[in-house]
Amino acid sequence: MRYDRIGLIDQLEMQQILLKEELVYLIANFGEKESRYLFERAAAMRKKNYGTDVYIRGLIEITSYCKRNCLYCGIRAGNQHAERYRLTKEEILECCHIGNELGFKTFVLQGGEDPYYTDELMTDIILAIKKAYPENAITLSLGEKSYESYKMFREAGADRYLLRHETANNEHYNQLHPPQMSGQERKHCLADLKRLGFQFGTGFMVGSPFQTPELLAEDLLFIHEIQPQMVGIGPFIPHHETPFADQQAGSVPLTLFMIGLLRLILPHALLPSTTALGTAEANGRELGILAGANVIMPNLSPLDVRKKYMIYDNKIATGLEAAESLAGLKKSMNAIGYQIVETRGDFKK
Ligand code: 5AD
Repeated sequence: MRYDRIGLIDQLEMQQILLKEELVYLIANFGEKESRYLFERAAAMRKKNYGTDVYIRGLIEITSYCKRNCLYCGIRAGNQHAERYRLTKEEILECCHIGNELGFKTFVLQGGEDPYYTDELMTDIILAIKKAYPENAITLSLGEKSYESYKMFREAGADRYLLRHETANNEHYNQLHPPQMSGQERKHCLADLKRLGFQFGTGFMVGSPFQTPELLAEDLLFIHEIQPQMVGIGPFIPHHETPFADQQAGSVPLTLFMIGLLRLILPHALLPSTTALGTAEANGRELGILAGANVIMPNLSPLDVRKKYMIYDNKIATGLEAAESLAGLKKSMNAIGYQIVETRGDFKK
């Protein structure tokens, strides 16, 4: 079966979700012409809903300890060579202080699944940040927790939660994760986060091992079904100390194409142009914005730990990636016709 690829993009723009086979066809057969057309339609959609504003989030990587053993990730428990660190409550608050001064109105607390941060400690940290910066939003990205834990975080004042589903297909999920983890459990967590009223985010890697166009189509349909406020995607980048060390990296053009599709499928979504995209290609982040993304998450972690949060090889942590270089980031966004805004940047609908 052959489809009219431009016609399929038009259909998505008109808010008609495609059949799985149509999505597969588009993902497997797009070329430069389709990319150009998609990015133009995605940019128009994003302008309609968010103008040319780009929201910023200060990313604080609170711990590189992780009890999980995801096959793709450099800070997996099994990596004996990973450098481990934990930030104290005081250090996290200091990051927030610096970030707030720089103009960040959202703090993202991200980390491996580290039992050191008990629910009580996290609640204490969330309350302290909210007390010091009541106007600012807190996003958590701390992995899988029980409904009760998520509830405690929500009641303490956390506004948003990021948990990538990684792949919507349960067999593929098992190929990327150890037997203790399951796609079903992951989806259960996302349902809990949604029920608790978090603005929640999910996402996946593009070009992860064993991924096919069929699987990417399943990811898009899953995302359309659960309607997250945020979706983070980036190319898979191998880490040399993982079982996937010799696997191929994901493609930047395909990642950009997927961002464009996501913008049409979720017109109001907050879509970050991710660090992985900026790592895979020098101007990757700008390209992500031009493909339909509207969020950037500069690194606000203390300088001495940045090199230790290596989830994939060569992860960028300084230069324009750093929160301190906001002026440079502003310039690079202006140069492509967009501007950084210093607001909370909540989901609009
Ligand atoms: N390449 C790209 N992205 C990765 N992540 C983890 N390891 C890698 C890698 N090797 C992504 C996962 C995870 C997020 C924090 O980073 O999707 O959810």
